[in-house]
Amino acid sequence: MFPTVRMRRLRNNDATRRLVRETTLNVDDLVYPLFVCPGESVKRPIKSMPGCFHFSPDKIIEEAKEIAHMGIPAIMLFGLPETKDPTGSDASNESGPLCNAIRNIKKSVPELLIITDVCLCAYTDHGHCGVISNGKVDNDRTIALLAKTALAHANAGADMVAPSDMMDGRVNAIRRLLDEKAFEQVGIMSYSAKFASAYYGPFRDAAGSSPAWGDRRAYQMDPANGKQAMREMQQDIEEGADIIMVKPALAYLDIIANARRRFDLPIAAYNVSGEYMMLNAAAEAGLIDHNATIMETMLSFKRAGTDIIITYFAKEVAKLLQ
Ligand code: PBG
Ligand code: ZN
Repeated sequence: MFPTVRMRRLRNNDATRRLVRETTLNVDDLVYPLFVCPGESVKRPIKSMPGCFHFSPDKIIEEAKEIAHMGIPAIMLFGLPETKDPTGSDASNESGPLCNAIRNIKKSVPELLIITDVCLCAYTDHGHCGVISNGKVDNDRTIALLAKTALAHANAGADMVAPSDMMDGRVNAIRRLLDEKAFEQVGIMSYSAKFASAYYGPFRDAAGSSPAWGDRRAYQMDPANGKQAMREMQQDIEEGADIIMVKPALAYLDIIANARRRFDLPIAAYNVSGEYMMLNAAAEAGLIDHNATIMETMLSFKRAGTDIIITYFAKEVAKLLQ
């Protein structure tokens, strides 16, 4: 009965805790998402996501410098359009805000990795992630436009493209077009297991990308499906994805853990806008400790098995790690 196994021996003091710690968080793990809007000298607070801003392509340079200076290796860029139409044609506009921002950042902060979100929902007048035929999102017409959009980003200097639309075959379509145009070194981080989640609310406000009718359940995954998520990831790997992503992160840690056991390529977790605001709101209400909760949450992603964390907390995490 005497306890010969005393687990507390391994956590009695800080030195021992450090020695036996299984999971660590590092600034190298982080990707910071940023929103690019039309205009000049714009740095506008995003109402639905306090702490985040819309930046015009000139104004984003100083932000990118600060991020690089903090040691964060990469940013993820989301573009806002100048005009919307049924096919989201502004998404592949090489002189639009997003492509201008890519060129500006590459020129002034070349060491900062630029990943671009590739989707049409912020650019279509109906807010869906693809073009509509007969009342439905048309898969095959959409993937051609996504490839064109990815090519525009690569032309502007993006290091990696991240398709977030959940169409079938888009990784293949993007890979083929990029290779054909000699962008074989531009990587693909695929939003492979992206669920039709209610946690995207604050982002859709920020990006103006809410669907005008219906929802995204005919293309984004059913939150009930873990095995199907493995098929989505397997498929994207076969089509040439360099990095696979699970999104959202916190309510989908089982998906990350299963992917870690199954696949040997880098895995990214997207700590989405609703997760960001859930934590901010609880801290704001005085219910939880802001910094401690952020770090515990980040650690949970790493423990589940992710390599990369895309988070609006990236700058705060980088500061807390110093
Ligand atoms: C667009 C896109 C969304 C997010 C990233 N890319 C919204 C959506 O799919 O409706 C969500 C990001 C977040 O909530 O932080 N396809
Ligand atoms: Zn979309």
